[in-house]
Amino acid sequence: MTTPAILRDVWLAAAAELESVGIDDARFEAEVLLRHATGLTRAQLYASLTDEVDPAAQDRFQTALAERTTRKPLAYITGTREFYRLEFHVTPDVLIPRPESELLVDAALDHMRQARIRSALVADVGAGSGAVGIALARHRRGVNLICSDVSREALRVARDNANRLLRRPNAAFVQGDLLTPLPGPFHCVVANLPYIPEERLDELEPEVAEHEPRVALTPGTRGTELILRLITQLPSRLHPNGIAVLEVDPGQESAIADAAHQMLPNADIAVLDDVSQRPRAVRIIAG
Ligand SMILES: C[S@@+](CC[C@H](N)C(=O)[O-])C[C@H]1O[C@@H](n2cnc3c(N)ncnc32)[C@H](O)[C@@H]1O
Repeated sequence: MTTPAILRDVWLAAAAELESVGIDDARFEAEVLLRHATGLTRAQLYASLTDEVDPAAQDRFQTALAERTTRKPLAYITGTREFYRLEFHVTPDVLIPRPESELLVDAALDHMRQARIRSALVADVGAGSGAVGIALARHRRGVNLICSDVSREALRVARDNANRLLRRPNAAFVQGDLLTPLPGPFHCVVANLPYIPEERLDELEPEVAEHEPRVALTPGTRGTELILRLITQLPSRLHPNGIAVLEVDPGQESAIADAAHQMLPNADIAVLDDVSQRPRAVRIIAG
């Protein structure tokens, strides 16, 4: 059992250890791990800086800290990540939802409100934790959500999140390739599919390259393979005036928008920027 120590000392020592392995926001991350291990809120933590840490909590904290020093992502250690102001469960079977994907939810909700689409059938393709589709369903009444993913384990995580976060879980979970196994047509298709070219995987942070599922990161050599294939499925799967919002890596937007123009010549197609003003999604509204 660990010898009792003062909370502030434990925190500062942990921050130094995290910094030494190259973690940028070491003090904040040490705080998150401390709160996770002790169950204290932020306010309680600050009010107990000179208290001794409960030895059992300190053991839990040291285990979590050791995991983080291997560059395992914080979200896989705490098991949660906030997305669209909702707390999602995450495991190493799913990509950790990124803030830039909130753009997909905003764009889909805006269109459904403006077009007064009620009782919408929505597909979240490559759903992972279900973050995008579930956030959408949580903010729009009358949504029937279908999540698809090739990963059975990811769909288990998405189902668990839907059960916790949706008041009336009108959601189904289907394993398979893109839209192939799903019914339709859809009023809305959202997709954050893997788009990193294989050869760029080595350039990514160890948290991503070594811990997030490869099937969630890369579809092959070009990066655009899966998104382009999804676009070929859209003409028969989108209602007139239905919307598809597809996340892209900056630089892929022109190829994706061009393919969408070819497959859906009457559609209204736009490239959407993320909060950092980088092209992040292609929005397609069927004609
Ligand atoms: C980048 S992750 C996105 C997860 C989630 N949508 C999000 O934004 O956090 C891509 C997801 O697509 C899934 N995927 C990969 N290939 C697929 C395919 N051919 N059909 C359906 N899903 C696929 C992966 O398993 C992974 O869960």
